[in-house]
Amino acid sequence: MATAKVAALPLLVLLAAAMSLPPASSLAVTSTYVRPRPRATLSVLHGGDGQTPQQVHISAVGSDRMRVTWITDDDAPATVEYGTVSGQYPFSAAGSTTTYSYLLYHSGKIHDAVIGPLEPSTTYYYCCSNSTSRELSFRTPPASLPVKFVVVGDLGQTGWTESTLRHIADDDYDMLLLPGDLSYADFYQPRWDTYGRLVEPLASARPWMVTEGNHEVERIPLLHPQPFTAYNARWRMPHDAGASPSGSNLYYSFDVAGGAVHVIMLGSYTGYAAGTAQHRWLQADLAGINRGKTAFVVALVHAPWYNSNTAHRGEGDAMRAAMEELLYGTRVDAVFAGHVHAYERFARVYGSREDPCGPVHVTVGDGGNREGLAKRYVDPQPATSAFREASFGHGRLEVVNATHARWTWHRNDDDEAVVADQVWITSLASIPACNKKDSFTL
Ligand SMILES: *[C@@H]1O[C@H](CO)[C@@H](O)[C@H](O)[C@H]1NC(C)=O
Ligand SMILES: *[C@@H]1O[C@H](CO)[C@@H](O)[C@H](O)[C@H]1NC(C)=O
Ligand SMILES: [Fe+2]
Repeated sequence: MATAKVAALPLLVLLAAAMSLPPASSLAVTSTYVRPRPRATLSVLHGGDGQTPQQVHISAVGSDRMRVTWITDDDAPATVEYGTVSGQYPFSAAGSTTTYSYLLYHSGKIHDAVIGPLEPSTTYYYCCSNSTSRELSFRTPPASLPVKFVVVGDLGQTGWTESTLRHIADDDYDMLLLPGDLSYADFYQPRWDTYGRLVEPLASARPWMVTEGNHEVERIPLLHPQPFTAYNARWRMPHDAGASPSGSNLYYSFDVAGGAVHVIMLGSYTGYAAGTAQHRWLQADLAGINRGKTAFVVALVHAPWYNSNTAHRGEGDAMRAAMEELLYGTRVDAVFAGHVHAYERFARVYGSREDPCGPVHVTVGDGGNREGLAKRYVDPQPATSAFREASFGHGRLEVVNATHARWTWHRNDDDEAVVADQVWITSLASIPACNKKDSFTL
């Protein structure tokens, strides 16, 4: 017995060593960065009186308008006064007010007004509900390339969220894209309010375009059977604007930089199978894209379609089966997802295989929420997975011209933002081999 054990030991060591080697052809990287500990949930309180605007955020509507959304505890006018000089508001727009109830919680007055037409790349000063003591400002996105996006999912409202937001604010950008899971209110509605206050400094200054994650559903059988109540009331997106209105706040699309970039926000938690309203809308939206003019097409979705983390395995598979071919046919350049609380970048993939005409898939569900990081990965790393790391951080997509976009991922390295991954993404519309007439129709 003893001899057999001794003889088996070196064999086992050899076997283990062989198994831990990456496949010879793979350049896949699993980062070895050692993560700091989780941080506690924050609770940002409201300082003003009942009519003081709070939780202000903006979202782009069409090419030259902006929706301003804010909340007051008491009744206040749903007006936005604005102009291009601080302290002077020659323009004004009136919107509407809504409220919602959720179990015993009653929301404040949720106001929303669409302002414009606005000039591109211009700073506007504005106040809500005529509250001139609370002047805010935002800058409109550019009318042509280059354009800079921040992409970050699963934000939450912890000390790490604060760190992520600080790093985002440190470097200029034009628009933030959020692939789902905003507040982590998790049925406790006051946390939507604290979240609104936490993100206001950024979300009132640049358009924040979001789509829903599982934490937005907040459906309780019998007690509150209606899904997405807080999300739809507080984060209304331009689903009724642009070239292909979707009719649902849960999925929509819009153009940026004069149509050079088309962004498609998909909904992982509403019907997506063939024959559903979302699937039909996506087909029509993609059919309306002219890749001769649209340099980059990107899609956002909450549950990743490609994922080598042990968390949430397979949760995006059904949606991928229903929609991947549509995106591939239009040569969508990149798909950004959240849900898995970590970062992972895949090669260009289609049908689970590397494909030079498929989108780059990126999971960036690492905003900093209270559930912490998803640290366990499937081994060995699939050859299609180019880089993966379980840290908090945020991504940036800078579309520099009609052929090139630079993707960078910025880890919150303790409290510093460090570029931990970067890659150039070439527009698939500019690659002749991906645009042969027989392969698909432009
Ligand atoms: C806004 O405030 C100014 C000055 O207090 C006042 O003249 C004006 O009527 C107010 N407008 C609205 C819409 O309440
Ligand atoms: C687009 O940007 C890339 C990367 O900076 C550069 O190599 C390329 O020459 C640019 N193309 C044009 C047409 O300016
Ligand atoms: Fe999620």
